Amino acid sequence: MSKSNNFSDRVIVAISGASGAPLVINLISRLLTENIKIDLIISNSAKIVIQQETDLKLPDTTDKIYQYLLNYFKTTDKQLKLYDTNNFLSPIASGSSIADKMVICPCSSATLSAITQGLSDNLIRRGADCIIKEKKQLIIVHRESPLSTIHLKNMLKLSKIGVTILPPNPGFYLKPTKIEDILNFITDRILQNLKIKSPLSKKWMY
Ligand SMILES: Cc1cc2nc3c(=O)[nH]c(=O)nc-3n(C[C@H](O)[C@H](O)[C@H](O)COP(=O)(O)O)c2cc1C
Repeated sequence: MSKSNNFSDRVIVAISGASGAPLVINLISRLLTENIKIDLIISNSAKIVIQQETDLKLPDTTDKIYQYLLNYFKTTDKQLKLYDTNNFLSPIASGSSIADKMVICPCSSATLSAITQGLSDNLIRRGADCIIKEKKQLIIVHRESPLSTIHLKNMLKLSKIGVTILPPNPGFYLKPTKIEDILNFITDRILQNLKIKSPLSKKWMY
């Protein structure tokens, strides 16, 4: 566990219904390893994708999902909080939230589009709206292929107002030999952008 992350110890992690559930599982594990507190939101579509792409068996209520995830990640309710995607009373729905960083990983085209339009109809979208209006840090890990002009225009619009568009594209110069290498490569990029130091991060050797 790194001792040097006291300056940025809280991150909102939002999971929307794009492909990439193993990536966000990896990201959450790495953030917890670095002692970062996580405010987690999972969209309804993301729950379906998570069941398709991982061995997680999510129960049917938010409270049960929360207990399940605390056990899965072997963590505590101090380190990981889960907010229902319709809970507009949560701190994330307010501009005064103490979290100053948010990662949407993976980000679906639907969530990308809603955020671009300021459509705050669930907690992920409202949280992103607050982060943008308060000029805090938002990282969008959008996954789709190929990208349409609509996707590209939405990403350009957000990029121009300071949102980081970080597609889950692996580099191959570190010669990955297993899926974990690829997941860690993308997670390292996210951590680097969040300015979270991780001894596990692989550095490109010049
Ligand atoms: C197995 C599965 C994989 C999906 N993958 C993607 C994807 O990679 N990108 C995307 O934009 N939408 C994808 N979708 C569609 C989204 O889940 C759908 O547009 C949904 O409305 C997104 O809602 P949300 O943004 O509120 O999570 C996928 C759906 C399923 C069931």
